[in-house]
Amino acid sequence: MKLIQTFDYAELSQQAAEQIISRIKRKPSLNLGLATGSTPTGLYQELIKDHQQNKTSYKQINTFNLDEYIGIPKKDSHSYHYFMCEKLFKHIDIPLDQTHIPDGTARLLDEECTRYEQFIQEHGGIDLQILGIGQNGHIGFNEPGTSFDSRTHIIDLAESTRKANSRFFASVDDVPLQAITMGIASIMDSKEIFLLVSGHAKAEALARLINGDVSEDFPASVLKKHPNVSIFADKEATALL
Ligand code: PGA
Repeated sequence: MKLIQTFDYAELSQQAAEQIISRIKRKPSLNLGLATGSTPTGLYQELIKDHQQNKTSYKQINTFNLDEYIGIPKKDSHSYHYFMCEKLFKHIDIPLDQTHIPDGTARLLDEECTRYEQFIQEHGGIDLQILGIGQNGHIGFNEPGTSFDSRTHIIDLAESTRKANSRFFASVDDVPLQAITMGIASIMDSKEIFLLVSGHAKAEALARLINGDVSEDFPASVLKKHPNVSIFADKEATALL
């Protein structure tokens, strides 16, 4: 794992964006894995700014999101479908049918998991996956205890995750109990991974990732076994290293 330390969140977002743009220049049909949450929003703003100023094109890109809540309609402002449209897709030139997010409203959820997993593989796999990290070490919505062999699956959200994400909802009771997420093995199949870590609240998780053991109790630790991971972390996040 390569650690790229930045002064602050703005620099983290800029540096990650520059690296993504260079990958797109090298391969205009890049398969780009995307994440939701607060951490990547600065990065998405940088990609939008670059698209407007430098005309970087996403016409041949396919995107694959990590996860989606179960039972929240795509048009609902709490869905990750809505989030991605608002924060990125509607501001760049990507055809919407090349943006892929698991369907948390599918009637047959197990089949949706299989479909999404196969779909990514049929597209040749993910070239570059963007990840955030939960305070409990989750990646995607793979909570502690998830098997490193897992593929796209349904997960019961940890109470701590529901609490952390309640800031986007009226109350914690409104946060869904379950999500559909790419599995850990699905994430590890990505050719390259960028992990973004920002702020004091993530300092403990980053220290455990860097200094701790590889264990299913701390899902992000699996990244130590991946040959091509860059961690972009700001000063606050690296405070305990
Ligand atoms: P955050 O979420 O970027 O909103 O902190 C990251 C995560 O929980 O994976």
